[in-house]
Amino acid sequence: MELRQIGSSNVRPTPIVFGAWAIGGWLWGGTHDAQAIEGINAAIDAGINAIDTAPVYGFGHSESVVGEAIRGRRDEVLIFTKCGVRWDLEEGQHHYDTEDAEGNPVRLVRNLSRDNILRECDQSLERLGIEQIDLYQCHWPDATTPIAETMGALTELLDQGLIRAIGVSNFTPEMIEECLRYGPVHCSQPKFSLLTRENYDGVIAWCDEHGIASIVYSPMEQGMLTGKVTVDRAFSAGDQRNTRPWFTRENVVRVNTVIDDAMRPIAQAHDATVAQVTLAWTIAAPGITCALAGSRNAEQARENAGAMQVELSSEEFAAIREAFWQIEGP
Ligand SMILES: NC(=O)c1ccc[n+]([C@@H]2O[C@H](COP(=O)([O-])OP(=O)(O)OC[C@H]3O[C@@H](n4cnc5c(N)ncnc54)[C@H](OP(=O)(O)O)[C@@H]3O)[C@@H](O)[C@H]2O)c1
Repeated sequence: MELRQIGSSNVRPTPIVFGAWAIGGWLWGGTHDAQAIEGINAAIDAGINAIDTAPVYGFGHSESVVGEAIRGRRDEVLIFTKCGVRWDLEEGQHHYDTEDAEGNPVRLVRNLSRDNILRECDQSLERLGIEQIDLYQCHWPDATTPIAETMGALTELLDQGLIRAIGVSNFTPEMIEECLRYGPVHCSQPKFSLLTRENYDGVIAWCDEHGIASIVYSPMEQGMLTGKVTVDRAFSAGDQRNTRPWFTRENVVRVNTVIDDAMRPIAQAHDATVAQVTLAWTIAAPGITCALAGSRNAEQARENAGAMQVELSSEEFAAIREAFWQIEGP
């Protein structure tokens, strides 16, 4: 299986990485742990060698489920997790207010202080049941902590061998440039899908020029770019897609029309699914190192891993780009 490289580090993930947000349940209308564990194992069996999670995904739940799933197969998989978004601290920059799976109010803060990063790293290692994190990422920028302090903590963890690579997520090129004054940044994690393209010519291009990997999130636009979301699809209570603009009736029709015209024939020609073509396009796009494919169960995990076998011709790649670049945001 082809491997990619996380910047100048020696962390080498497959182009498709298992995204573990939904299996935390929070903002995804709940989750089934047994199915999630099967999904992670199916992903590894199908050749995926990396998992991306975060403490805030289900307030520790996603990391614990990942830890349980990889027990006994740690050497087959790279673990990427994050720091700096807390549900149990007052101090820091207000992120947003939300609810846990039981409907209790939760106030999230961004906190990238040294103390918090060191504490969170310990907690993540414990929940994941591992001794080293392969890629440790600042989840969101925190305006209340100087970048020098954050990078100081991360380089300390790197020197101690508790993490193997440093990443940032949702950072601008200017913020990353400042980070680089204090230590290495191996990876950036921005949002990118064929429908949400702003970062492509922005932070993704900038990182490519600076030898920093880009592992992109929500590449299937939270399921929309699988071609399986119809106007009749009802999301569970607590699923963020109930209020996401791409999931209005009008936008579902608009996007599915482009999928049917521009993508489904290509999928059929490759004996592949729309989700696989979406992911194959994403990992073939110059500047994109990996796509984080969120999967809830074994079926989705196997299908998403299968995208690594789909090789689009340059004509197919260009045709998909042209069709989707014309879709305006909601
Ligand atoms: N750094 C950040 O701020 C940030 C933000 C968001 C995400 N992320 C990371 O990126 C990962 C991926 O992003 P994401 O989970 O938001 O979105 P995504 O990967 O675009 O979509 C995931 C959702 O699509 C559906 N799906 C996945 N594979 C499918 C398939 N083969 N067929 C049909 N439906 C399928 C599933 O939901 P249903 O089955 O319920 O439809 C799944 O939960 C996350 O897990 C997380 O690791 C990071």
